[in-house]
Parts: sequence; structure tokens; C-alpha cells
Amino acid sequence: MLVNCSDMLKKAVSGMYAVGHFNTNNLEWTKAILIACEEKKSPALVGISEGAAKYMGGYKVVVDIVRDLSESLNITVPVSVHLDHGSYDGCLAAIQAGFPSVMFDGSKYPIDENVEKTRALVKLTREKGISLEAEVGAIGGEEDGVIGGGEVADADECARIAELGIDFLAAGIGNIHGKYPENWRGLDFDTLEKIKSRIGDMPLVLHGGTGIPKDMIEQSISLGVAKINVNTECQLAFAEATRKYIEAGKDLEGKGFDPRKLLKPGFEAIIEKVKEKIDLFGTTNCA
Ligand code: 13P
Repeated sequence: MLVNCSDMLKKAVSGMYAVGHFNTNNLEWTKAILIACEEKKSPALVGISEGAAKYMGGYKVVVDIVRDLSESLNITVPVSVHLDHGSYDGCLAAIQAGFPSVMFDGSKYPIDENVEKTRALVKLTREKGISLEAEVGAIGGEEDGVIGGGEVADADECARIAELGIDFLAAGIGNIHGKYPENWRGLDFDTLEKIKSRIGDMPLVLHGGTGIPKDMIEQSISLGVAKINVNTECQLAFAEATRKYIEAGKDLEGKGFDPRKLLKPGFEAIIEKVKEKIDLFGTTNCA
């Protein structure tokens, strides 16, 4: 059975650790995330972007794959599947397809519009027992050509969104999706502290988890971050392991071209990466 993320993140706040949100892309990815979380006895939070959901065949396929794999792999830790950076319509479609948890990313709208759209989704998700993440202060990324630092959220705006009754809040604190550039200024902990002082015990979400150094991860957790999103790092691990296999000519030996063999090193690399992050985020044995 899939669960919403509300309990797992409340426990993370009181236990002072952060649940890793690992973005999936396909069947192998999903399986790798679930296996790693089970081995580490960590709650499993499978994230998926709208684009990746489309790639996999739609929201229903995603929910079914996560649920069915959890059952057939005998996963005993709590498992959730969460829409990442959903549009308003994307949230509605994911909810309709059975997602137990969604993120509405209204950060691109003026704050009043973000508040109104988030409010409507609070109402709907409360009725259905679905957990809701909202966002203030867009998180930059390479695709936006951002170099040096991501956006920093306004604490008053964070408080306005938090008091609508969402479950957890993503706030920009200089974090960026993708690899951090050489001249990255690091996370803005003053802003994080200000936000924390305005939203009480509400779990905070740190996006752009790829490559954030250990000391910054630990400080973020001590300031209320209870969910850390990781995507690029697993993609890089998968690509590197797959490249090594092909460069070593393994696909040309015997039946090395069989996808079950070709994709195995990348699959195993994702498992190792997820396990490494679970240790870093302090979630081992926290299921
Ligand atoms: P990275 O790709 O930088 O790990 O960020 C993932 C993320 O924040 C997804 O929402």
C-alpha cells in the first residue's frame, strides 16, 4: 500500500533527519530506489516530474509500477510516490490517477496567485488524505542559465503559504537543480533560519540535493529540513556505470547486449548512490 508523506516527514522533523526524495525515470530506477530503501530500512519516497511521468506512460502507470513493485519485492518500509514540481493541472491529474502525495510548484506565479492556487489544492488534498508540498522562491537550475546561486525565498511569503495548511514547504535558499557551479555561493542559512522561525514545525524541503556537501546537509537538517530531493546524482551514477560497461566492450561479449545485462551496472550504481544518500541524510533504520 502506498502512503502519503505526512507521517514520514513529521517523524523526520522530530528525529532530526531528512527523508531522501529520489526521482525515478523508469522501471529499473524505481526498483533500484525501493531495493536501496528496503536494505537501509529507510522510508522510500519516489519522486517523479511531470516530464518523467509522461515518459513512463502517464501518472497511472507510475502509481501502478511503484505500488506493484513494492508488493512483488516485499518492501516492508513505508513507500510513497510524490509528484515533483507539479503544475496546477498536473496535480489534479496525478491525484485523479491515485498519487498519495503531490507538490504544487506555484513559485513562478505572483505570490497572490500562488496563494490562491495552493489554497484550492489544500482543500482538495485535505478531502482526499493526500500530502501537499508547496513552493516559494523558485529553485534555479542549469536549464534556466542560472550561475552562482538560486533564488532566495521571502520569509513573509513562506509564512503566507505555510498557514494555508500545506504539509511541507520547499523554499529557495540558494539551492539549484543539477550540478553546482564552481562559483556557487552555498546555501543561505540566515534565510533558512528566518523561514523556520515563521513556520514552526512544518517540514522544509531542500531541492537540488545533488552535490550539497555534508556540513551543509547537516546544518539544513538542524534548521528543519526534513526532505531532500536528489535526481541528477543518480542519473550521473547510472550514466557513468553504463558508459564503463560499453567502453569495456562488454555489450559485444556473448549476450552482453541483452538489456537485462546492459542496464545492470547502471541499476546497481543507483542502488549504491541511494544508499549513500540515505546514510548522509541520517535515515538508515528510520522506517
Ligand atoms: P538535483 O537534480 O539537483 O538532485 O535536484 C533534484 C530535485 O530537486 C528534484 O526536485
